Amino acid sequence: MSTAVERFAALWDSLAPIGRAPSGPLDGPAGSGYLRYAWTHGDLDCREWFVEEALDRDLDVETDGNGNIWATWCPAGVDEQMPAVVTGSHLDSVPHGGAYDGPLGVVSALLAVDEMRARGATPTVPLRLAVFTEEEGSRFGVACLGSRLLTGSIAPDKALALTDRDGLRLSDAMRIGGVEPDTVGADPTRLAAIGAFVELHVEQGRWLVDAGQPVGIATAIWPHGRYRFDFRGAGNHAGTTRMDDRHDPMLTYAYTVLAANKEARLAGAHATVGRVSVEPNATNAVPSSVTGWLDARAPDDEILKMLVEAITVKATDRATRDGTQVAVTAESASGATTFDPDLVARLRAVLPDAPLLATGAGHDAGVLASRVPAAMLFVRNPTGVSHAPEETASDEDCTAGVAALADVLTELACR
Ligand code: GLV
Ligand code: MN
Ligand code: MN
Repeated sequence: MSTAVERFAALWDSLAPIGRAPSGPLDGPAGSGYLRYAWTHGDLDCREWFVEEALDRDLDVETDGNGNIWATWCPAGVDEQMPAVVTGSHLDSVPHGGAYDGPLGVVSALLAVDEMRARGATPTVPLRLAVFTEEEGSRFGVACLGSRLLTGSIAPDKALALTDRDGLRLSDAMRIGGVEPDTVGADPTRLAAIGAFVELHVEQGRWLVDAGQPVGIATAIWPHGRYRFDFRGAGNHAGTTRMDDRHDPMLTYAYTVLAANKEARLAGAHATVGRVSVEPNATNAVPSSVTGWLDARAPDDEILKMLVEAITVKATDRATRDGTQVAVTAESASGATTFDPDLVARLRAVLPDAPLLATGAGHDAGVLASRVPAAMLFVRNPTGVSHAPEETASDEDCTAGVAALADVLTELACR
C-alpha cells in the first residue's frame, strides 16, 4: 500500500507537466515556470485534468455560468439543497509562475476526499470542490475574476468586455474554451448553497518557516488593488530631438516607479510596478506613451487610499515638469478581509498547533469572505518565494496540509 506522501507525489506529478513554459526546466531561472493563463491551452488542460480526477472519484461535476468548476460529493441520503462545505482554489498561473499557487489547494482538495473516505468519514452535508477561473488576473487584468463574478462584485458587462494583451475579449476566450458566456454574472443561488469555504494555499512568505510549523491558518488579507498609469508624451527621434525639447513619458514613468517604492516604504505598505508597456518600443525613438501597472497593498483601507493618492500626486507633478500627461485607472480593488472568526476558531480547535497569520496576497477566499463564512489554510514554503518558479513546498508538508484539510472538512461536513 502506498503512503500518504507517495499518494500526494503521484497526483502532484500527474498535474506537473501541464502548462509548463516550453523554454526551460521548472526550477530554472527566467523563462521557466508555468504559463497557465485562464482559458488558454495550459489552463484548459489543467481543467480537464481536474474533471477527470473528480469523475474518477465519483464526484458530480458541473461548470457554472462564470466558468468555475464544481465537483460535489453528496452521499446517498444527504439533502443536496443543504448548504455545502466547499474547498478548492485555482489552476491558472501568473506569467512564468510557480507550481503551487492555486494547484496545491486543488490537489489537496481531491486528496482530502480520498483521505476522508479512507478514514470512513461521510459528509452529512454536500462537500464540494471548487476550481475558480482567472484568479491571477494574468490574462484579463482583474484578479479573482471567477469569484468576483459569482459574488456580483464585478458587473458581467464590464467583465465580458475585458480584453487580453492581444485584444481578445473574455467572452470570446470563454467561448473558445467551451463555455458559453450567456449566463456570466452573480449567482445568488449557488452562493446561498455555500455553508463554509476553506481554501488551502501555499504560503507566500516565510512565517511558517520561522514558526517551525507545516500548516497555518489565515486570519486576514491586506486590502489591495491594481492601478493602470497611462503616461502620454510626444514620440520623436532619439538622435535629433534636443534633450530640452522632449516630452518623454518614460521619465514620468520612471519617476513614478521610484516614488511608489518610496511612498510604500514610508507607509509600511507594498507597491510594485511589475508590468510595463511602451509605444513604439523602439531603441531609437523617444516613446510616445508608456503604461505601467501599479500593484498596491497596505495594512488597512485608509493607508492604501493615501498611498495611491500620494503616488498619483507625485506622478502628476512630474508629468507637469516633463510636459507629459498621466491618467490613473483603478482596474480592480479589494478591501481589507477578515476571515470569519467563528470558522477560524473551529479550524484552530481542529489544528491547535497551526499558527495564525495574515497575508498580503489576494485569494478567492477573500472575495467569498464578503458573502459566506470563509477561511484559509497555508502550507509552509521553504523559499518563501511565490509568483516565480522558486515557489515550493515539500511533499511531506503538502501531505500534512492534506491531512489538516481532511480534519477540517470532517469537522465541518461530517457532524
Ligand atoms: C494573487 O496571487 C495576488 O495576490 O495577486
Ligand atoms: Mn493563489
Ligand atoms: Mn497568486
